Amino acid sequence: MTYAEAYRESLESPETFWGRAAEAIDWDKKWDLVLDRSNPPFYRWFRGGVLNTCYNAVDRHVERGRGDQDAIIYDSPVTNTIQKITFRETQNRVAKIAGMLVNLGVKKGDTVLIYMPMIPEAALSMLACARIGAVHSVVFGGFAPRELAVRIDDAKPDVILSASCGIEVKRVIPYKPLLDEAIEIAGHKPTKCVICQRPMSVADLKPGRDFDWEEKEAAAKPADCVKVQATDPLYILYTSGTTGKPKGVVRDNGGHAVALIWSMKHIYNIEPGDVYWAASDVGWVVGHSYIVYAPLFMGATTVLFEGKPVGTPDPGAFWRVISQHKVKALFTAPTAIRAIKREDPKGVFLKDYDLSNFETLFLAGERLDPDTYFWGTDLLKKPVIDHWWQTETAWAIAGNFRGLELFPIRPGSATMPMPGYNIKILDPVTAEELGPNQNGVITVKLPLPPANLPTLWNDDKRFEESYVNPFPGYYLTGDGGYIDEDGYVFVMGRIDDVINVAGHRLSTGGMEEVLARHPDVAECAVVGVADDLKGQVPVGFVVLKAGVTKPKEEIVDEVIKMVRNDIGAVASFKKTVVVDRLPKTRSGKVLRGTMRKIADNEAYSVPSTIDDPATLDEIGSALKTIGYAV
Ligand code: COA
Ligand code: AMP
Repeated sequence: MTYAEAYRESLESPETFWGRAAEAIDWDKKWDLVLDRSNPPFYRWFRGGVLNTCYNAVDRHVERGRGDQDAIIYDSPVTNTIQKITFRETQNRVAKIAGMLVNLGVKKGDTVLIYMPMIPEAALSMLACARIGAVHSVVFGGFAPRELAVRIDDAKPDVILSASCGIEVKRVIPYKPLLDEAIEIAGHKPTKCVICQRPMSVADLKPGRDFDWEEKEAAAKPADCVKVQATDPLYILYTSGTTGKPKGVVRDNGGHAVALIWSMKHIYNIEPGDVYWAASDVGWVVGHSYIVYAPLFMGATTVLFEGKPVGTPDPGAFWRVISQHKVKALFTAPTAIRAIKREDPKGVFLKDYDLSNFETLFLAGERLDPDTYFWGTDLLKKPVIDHWWQTETAWAIAGNFRGLELFPIRPGSATMPMPGYNIKILDPVTAEELGPNQNGVITVKLPLPPANLPTLWNDDKRFEESYVNPFPGYYLTGDGGYIDEDGYVFVMGRIDDVINVAGHRLSTGGMEEVLARHPDVAECAVVGVADDLKGQVPVGFVVLKAGVTKPKEEIVDEVIKMVRNDIGAVASFKKTVVVDRLPKTRSGKVLRGTMRKIADNEAYSVPSTIDDPATLDEIGSALKTIGYAV
């Protein structure tokens, strides 16, 4: 099948296309309807189908002779560990962890929160939840207690799985105090926490509430896979929206398994037995889809890497892992490649390693800038493929196809729409469909393909308001861009208050809510400005209340600390200026887009609706004091 045939069929007859793709999954009962269109915009895939996600990721491979093949290779330069876990061992441990959850009272449909560093138990516990039909909600370890508390309050888990610490390049981060503080702040109180003790920092356990993981797992009886409906939730993953309240993206079981296994072959060209590596974190969607579920659905080996592209110990770390474990495809974020380029511009470290098994470098999480694309291609002499997706979608919306048809690459473009995604560029004001090379809002005509979010957790209304109501009949991606005359998709950046910092999705609105809590701050704005390494970093602007006498520098230090404490170090919020006024329209809307352009030295026109054009000069002068707009 060519790409053109696949794409056409996926839009004209999604039932045929995805019904065929679903044959790659084992079902306890086949579906009644491939696509249930009865309640738009809430489309559901594989209605009536019954399966188990963990069975498809683990057990079936053991039953079919892959028991001795590695399922997970845990490679942790920060602890000097390499541990290989076969499919059989994975099955045994997952069944025991599932049994441990059952002993703690977890039942099908219950939520379980997972707050873990990149250790095997993180992936195993996700699979254990799937095994018993519990709904996991993984929270990225870099988030601060307040962010964790918001997620506890929304997901309402009775059980939390965590570890005593995470390990960053230069420091050990005890997780337990963060977890304790989050439970303290949260309104909902989980009653049981199971802590995986790591020797680098052993946690104190609260009697009655906290349990030692090793003891609980050892004492448990293995639990079997539980049958669930294709439309039952597999997990909730919170992601940044435009406000401080994150969106709980829901993933189903059936559509998720079908789309992910299709993507493994056709996008990444991965077959059973291959080694695949997504250098991300289980706390992000890339980690859910491509560290844990998709490679295992395929019967491939996945690498779980606890390290960084640089500093663990050097910029050759990625090339070392690829050569040592015979990795066929690596998926990471452009920022990781920029970090390597910065420390090893000539690629000297690559020369020590044999990359003969390596086929393709895949990048996503932010736009792949042409410089990084050319540097990576020249160095690796292999295809470097950009693909564009979101937490909401679980897999790529646009990309290239290593296992279907490799399109010539156009630097700066994510290439072609994936099957099932009817991408339309709309005029932001008139909602008319725009033609080739015209910049607009990127939308996808409904229905979305399998694995995409059916709704937000307990919030159908917010799902409709955020994604569907702005352009009825279309899913609003939140990104802007265009499609060229040959169908190549160019994603140019967010059109809302979401920013991407080192591939991490964050909300400037959420940061503004933190700044506004400072007692001396009257008004504030946060914008994402361009950064050579991280793609974007947030910059804060604060207007002080009248009569404040505290030195400005102290207030700046305080708000920077507040964001670090309330959101997390991962926000990379390090620059803030005090200004007399914010530039606004006459109706009072802060002109964040214009402020960003000033910081990035981009050309801008003074909006006709501006209240006082002099405020823009004031912003320019303030930015110069912190090294921007020069
Ligand atoms: N737990 C606790 N803290 C964490 C953390 C975690 N899981 N992850 C990051 N942090 C902290 C870091 O220690 C750092 O703290 P600091 O301000 O005290 O130095 C801060 O959050 C920012 O982290 P990071 O964004 O990772 O920046 P960095 O300067 O340490 O490293 C890169 C830069 C480019 C090497 C790194 O961002 C990277 O590897 N990015 C790839 C991102 C990625 O894979 N994204 C997933 C989408 S595919
Ligand atoms: P997340 O939900 O964390 O995966 O972030 C999704 C957002 O990251 C998208 O809406 C885009 O703004 C951005 N993004 C991800 N991949 C790409 C890409 N390949 N090109 C451009 N932007 C991207």
